[in-house]
This record gives sequence, C-alpha cells and structure tokens, in this order.
Amino acid sequence: MNHAMSFVTMNLVTMMYLIASVCFIQALKGLSSPATARRGNAFGITGMAIAAVTTVALILKLKEQQTGGMGLTLVIVGIVTGGAIGAYLAKTVEMTKMPELVAAMHSLIGLAAVCIAVAAVSEPWAFNIAEPGQALPIGNRFELFIGTFVGAITFSGSVIAFGKLSGKYKFRLFQGAPVSFKGQHMLNLVLALVMVGLGLVFCFADGVQPAWTPFVVMAIIAFALGVLIIIPIGGADMPVVVSMLNSYSGWAAAGIGFSLNNSMLIIAGSLVGSSGAILSYIMCKAMNRSFFNVILGGFGGDAPAAGAAGAQEQRPVKSGSADDAAFIMGNAETVIIVPGYGLAVARAQHSLKELVEKLTHKGVTVKYAIHPVAGRMPGHMNVLLAEAEVPYDQVFEMEDINGEFGQTDVVLVLGANDVVNPAAKDPKSPIAGMPILEAYKAKSIIVNKRSMASGYAGLDNDLFYQANTMMVFGDAKKVIEDMLKAVE
Ligand code: TAP
Repeated sequence: MNHAMSFVTMNLVTMMYLIASVCFIQALKGLSSPATARRGNAFGITGMAIAAVTTVALILKLKEQQTGGMGLTLVIVGIVTGGAIGAYLAKTVEMTKMPELVAAMHSLIGLAAVCIAVAAVSEPWAFNIAEPGQALPIGNRFELFIGTFVGAITFSGSVIAFGKLSGKYKFRLFQGAPVSFKGQHMLNLVLALVMVGLGLVFCFADGVQPAWTPFVVMAIIAFALGVLIIIPIGGADMPVVVSMLNSYSGWAAAGIGFSLNNSMLIIAGSLVGSSGAILSYIMCKAMNRSFFNVILGGFGGDAPAAGAAGAQEQRPVKSGSADDAAFIMGNAETVIIVPGYGLAVARAQHSLKELVEKLTHKGVTVKYAIHPVAGRMPGHMNVLLAEAEVPYDQVFEMEDINGEFGQTDVVLVLGANDVVNPAAKDPKSPIAGMPILEAYKAKSIIVNKRSMASGYAGLDNDLFYQANTMMVFGDAKKVIEDMLKAVE
C-alpha cells in the first residue's frame, strides 16, 4: 500500500515539476520581448512557486512515511529568509547596480550546488541515491564531481565579479583594473588538469566510504580557479563574465539535478546554462570579442580602462547649447534618439520621455535606436526606457532601424559613444567589425556628453568631428531638462 502510494506521489511530483519547467520555458519566451516581459515574469514566478510548494509537499509526505530525513523547518526558514531578502533587493536595487546584484545571486547558486553535492556525498541515502551501507554509484559520483567544480568556480568567480562591479571595496582583487601575472594561463591549465585528475580519483575510488581527500582538494582548487579566471578581466567587461557565470550556474544546477534525479532541476539548469551561453555569445559578437578569450579569461585588460580619457586628437568640434539642439529638433520631421551608458548614469530617462512627448506633440516623428551592448549589461537601454514607460512601438533594435538613419533629419546621441563610432568600419581600428548604429549617415547629428573623453573602448570618435555634428556638452539630465524647457 505504502509503496503504491509513494509511486502515485512520485508521479504527481514529476508532473508538477514538469508543469514548473513548462512555466520556465514560457518565462524565457515572454522575456524575449518588452511587450511580453511582464507575462514572462508571471510565468517565472508561477513556475518557481509550483516548484517550491511541490518540494515542501514532498518533504511532508516523506516525513509522514519516514523515508526521508530532510528537515521541513529548515526548508521553510530558507524559503522565507531568501524570499524576504530577494523581495527587498528587487524593490530597492538601482538600475545601474543590477549587474552586481546578479553576480551576487549567481555566487549563491554556485555555493548551493557545492553544498548539495557535499550533503549528497556524505549521506547519499537521504537523497535516495544509495541504500545505507552502500557505496555511491560511479555515475552519481561523476555528476556530483561536475556539479561541485562548476558550482565552486561559479561561486568564487561571481564573488570577484561582484566586487569588481560594485567598485566599493579597497581589496586589490575587487578593483576594476585587471590583475594579471606571468604564467597565469599556464597555472590555470595545470590547476584545471589537477582538478580533473582528483575528480577521477574520487569517482573511481574503492570502498563504501567516499574518497573525501580528493573531493575536498578538488573543490578547493575549483574555488581558487574561479578567482584566477576572473581577476585578469577588467571591471567594465564584467557583464559578459556575469552572463558566462550565469551559464555556469545553470550547468552546475543541471549536474546536481541528474544526481538527485530531479527533472525540474535538470530542465531549469539546462535552460539557464544554454540561455546564458547564447547571451554571452551574442554579447561577444556585438562587442567584436572572441568568445574563447572570454572563456579563458584575460580579455578586456588591453582595452583602456572604462571612463578613462583615451587618445583624443585636438581637432575642432562644433558645439552648441541645449536651446540650439531643441530648436533643430523642433523643426525636424524625423528624429532618432540613441541612448547610451551616459544616459543611464545621469538617470535622465524620465526627462527624455517628457522631451519626446513634447516633440511628438509638435508633429515630430521620434524613434529610439537600441544597440545590443549599449550601456553595461544586456538589455540595459531597453530596461531603462521601460522604467520610464516609453511605449515599446517607439523602440527599435539596431538591425531594424539602421536602414533609416540615411533619411533621418536629426539623430540625438545621448551619453553613447562606442555604439555610434564609425571607426568600426575601418579594418585597422581596434573595434573593426563591431556592429554600430549608423548615426553618421543622418542629415544632422547632435551629441550630448560631458567632455571629449573617450567611451568604454578608449577610442576617439570621428562622428564628433563631422561637419554636420553639433556637440552639446553637459550632464545628460541637465541638458535634456534644458532642451525640454526650450521646446516648451
Ligand atoms: P560608452 O562607449 O561607454 O560611452 C558612454 C559615454 O557616456 C562616455 O563617452 C561618456 O562621455 C558619456 N557620459 C558618461 N556620463 C555621462 C553623463 N552623466 N551625461 C552625459 N554623458 C555621459 O557607452 P555606449 O556607447 O553605451 O557603449 C557601450 C560600451 O560598453 C561598448 O563599447 C560595449 O562593448 C561596452 N560593454 C557593453 C556591455 C553590455 S552587455 N551592454 C558589457 C560590457 C561592455 P563623457 O565622459 O565625456 O561624459
């Protein structure tokens, strides 16, 4: 009777996990467009709620049947504490601090994977992996070994990424500047090989007791590797790294899911793993970086530090006031706005929306052009504009709007630099091949930034020196507010 009931219970659990997994897939689908993002989020929340409630119900059932030793109180304390911290952070985090929050979250996923693996190795019967007194099967050892090393690398790598992104800490490894030394890649390779060797010793060791020494040393090396892989990468390149670590955390969860025979963990982990890898690839392509350089670490170090004044030539530029810019835009038929990192820093999105409303009211057709890596995290500009409730139908992705610049009266570039740098068309330029928004083709170009300093790539921008370009210097928020007054 008991056996039959547990069969029914397990089928029900599998079905609930399957429903949760379908919700996660729907969540990803919804999040692919701003118009459906809210629905996507709702699916994600529903899937997570189903997964959590099913797990708690399963623990209750196992307790009732005395077949499992898991503590329900601990699980509930975890859910309540984690949920409260998550809700508070989501409510209070600033948009510019999002990448570091994501890095912190990934570190916890990595650590969770390591903790589950350690628990499963020490008490496999509590996870239904082996009977008491039996050795852990080799297949499970292998999965737990993979989950542990990927989880450990994700944890320590994400902690370093968090420190670099926050830029608040004095600790040398948390500084934005890359930390590199001679033979770093060789050391990483040797450590990786030793780690794999120890993992194999753990997998094939004889005896009922797990081979703790190779397992623990392997985990320590993995923690060290996570640090070593991330420290040579510059702070401004961290968003790509965060996306890559996101992918790692997914694979760690999937690895553990195989050991625990948990279909939902396998599906959710694979979704996170593959979507993170695809996103990293897209970002690398949009930044014209090699994916393998990212994986091996150490890219971005050769680019001048973000925000640093790069090589600038003393060439004449035409500059004007916010009033001049407002006059030009007010008399145009079509305006395309190119937002960049500076707009996010100035938090000028709300004033910008008001300005666009005023221009539209005057009969000007205004569109926003979004570059895939404008800003410092994937979708940064889309989120920024969505926060100001800019209508989605005014926002266009690069490939959809690039053909329109040639027929546009005015392009207003706000705190953007690299993403409109025509140097990308020059095969000898360091950013050669980087896809750009072709603002240089417009009839008139207005560029707002605070100075002639270079952008993230540290390069001078020919667009600023074009005969039909007018620079409006100043903080984006102040300049937009002045434009707004002038348009009114
Ligand atoms: P950037 O090339 O970094 O240029 C931003 C410009 O904003 C700077 O030149 C700066 O000039 C100006 N600025 C800063 N604060 C401002 C303020 N308060 N008001 C007005 N202007 C201000 O940014 P972008 O064009 O958005 O390009 C993004 C770059 O970041 C690309 O090179 C991309 O590859 C890289 N990146 C992107 C990502 C993702 S996923 N989005 C990840 C890593 C790296 P002043 O100092 O003169 O004001």
